[in-house]
Amino acid sequence: MANITLRVNGRAHTVDVEPSTPLLYVLRNDLELTGPRFGCGLGQCGACTVLIKGEAVRSCIRPVSAVVNDEITTLEGLAQGGTLHPLQQAWIDEQVPQCGFCQNGQILTAKALLDKTPNPTDAQIREGMNGTLCRCMTYYRIQAAIKLAARRLA
Ligand code: FES
Ligand code: FES
Repeated sequence: MANITLRVNGRAHTVDVEPSTPLLYVLRNDLELTGPRFGCGLGQCGACTVLIKGEAVRSCIRPVSAVVNDEITTLEGLAQGGTLHPLQQAWIDEQVPQCGFCQNGQILTAKALLDKTPNPTDAQIREGMNGTLCRCMTYYRIQAAIKLAARRLA
């Protein structure tokens, strides 16, 4: 075990864990941030996605020791001052989720996409969201919500 300090959603947290523990486990079990979900545990579905230095990263396969001092953002960190991020609001307005399990990964992957490509085409959305899986097939509503958020952010 080792004391490891993480910067999550603008706050520092020190946890006593095995350095090889997946970041996802620390976020959910130690910091009680349950936005990121355990889907496959193999880096293949995207349900566990968080932002690390602005990049969408699969936290189930990232050892906690590899992200010390990196700025980590979870779904809980998107809203500012009680106001939802435009992506979150667009998700509500377009009624994107069905079961909801994948949506943490969808929203954070979309955030990384819009930060790099503020006005994405349909093809750029498909490319940017590729591999973030939704078994409820909400992909068309996700695409509509990303375009709505992009318009509002413009
Ligand atoms: S739970 Fe991490 S990619 Fe599936
Ligand atoms: S909304 Fe059910 S898995 Fe995506």
